[in-house]
Amino acid sequence: MQYGAKRVLDINLSQVRKMFEQASPTAINLALGEPDFDTPPHIIEALKDALTMGETHYSQNKGLPELRKAIVQKLKKDNNINTTMDDIIVTVGASEALYSSINALINPGDDVLIPDPGFLSYQEVVKIAGANAIPVKTYPENGFKTTIKDVENSLTENTKAIIINSPCNPTGAVIEKEDVKAISDLADDKDIIIISDEIYEKIIYDKKHYSFQAYTDNAITINGFSKSYAMTGLRIGYLSAIPEMIDEILKIHQYNVACVDTPTQIAATDALVKSQQCVTDMVAEFRKRRDLVVKSLNEMGLECIRPDGAFYVFFKCDNPDEFIQKALKEDVVLVNGNAFGDMGEGYIRLSYAQSYDNLERAMRRLKKIVEN
Ligand SMILES: Cc1ncc(COP(=O)(O)O)c(C=O)c1O
Repeated sequence: MQYGAKRVLDINLSQVRKMFEQASPTAINLALGEPDFDTPPHIIEALKDALTMGETHYSQNKGLPELRKAIVQKLKKDNNINTTMDDIIVTVGASEALYSSINALINPGDDVLIPDPGFLSYQEVVKIAGANAIPVKTYPENGFKTTIKDVENSLTENTKAIIINSPCNPTGAVIEKEDVKAISDLADDKDIIIISDEIYEKIIYDKKHYSFQAYTDNAITINGFSKSYAMTGLRIGYLSAIPEMIDEILKIHQYNVACVDTPTQIAATDALVKSQQCVTDMVAEFRKRRDLVVKSLNEMGLECIRPDGAFYVFFKCDNPDEFIQKALKEDVVLVNGNAFGDMGEGYIRLSYAQSYDNLERAMRRLKKIVEN
């Protein structure tokens, strides 16, 4: 008997997960997509207090009012987005925000533009919705930044939405302000929805982050707590959009998860309203690690661009499969760039969400491989 539903049969599981499974428990894992830092203590305290106070019941489907108010203020202050708490949905990570948005707004047969190289989930979630994922190729000459030209080159008659991710996983590229504005204008002219995944917003080095929703009503802002506050296991994120979109997205959210767990929502409120020093400190450490990795790889002759955001370096390699297998033998786990799309062919993604010491050790091991 064939158990899988037709639309699910050709959905792929993540290759990144497969890499973990091959690695020994003592390996230096540079395949990870999560900060190695502990969740800041004040967030943990808020979570514990919430449990002790018996805050273990359902919240409103859209999320706790206090948290949504804090998100509205954050969006105003950081992103120049004017919204209200009715137009926010608190979700089970950015992942659920993405899933609910696509399933609520996209029809089977629609085309959805996704970044190439880009985060693995985009293609599969679009497929689950019965829609077609159309790659927007981005180029190394341009630091893999998405430009208006790249988007225009991929547009089809049936394009219903464009997913944009800046700072980008896997390349660390940060989109330029003029492209954010131009793509927003294009979305308005052609009635296309921009789904803007801003999960790495805070992990950005000498650049400024710009949000599409500041320029167009045709944009959904997706963000979360996993990366900025090292809260990956607490599973919380959010989305912001105009009421016409929120009304539809809420239907998928409500019948899928009802709401996010209440203690986590209380902890996330603390994350937003208390001091942001923990974020500043984490980003400063990421910057040191990025500089170490980029310098070491370039000295080895493994060409890479210095990324402006996220915690990944995307480096060029003549034979990624062979290199990755050799690295595994040296107890270093990496991911083939082609897992992120055709434009990732000939590249390897390295995550520097590992301690500085471990990164130094890993660089010595990679150097050995190159020298041999
Ligand atoms: C680009 C991107 N979007 C979304 C997510 C999912 O984030 P969350 O943990 O909030 O579901 C990730 C996680 O790796 C990611 O890299």
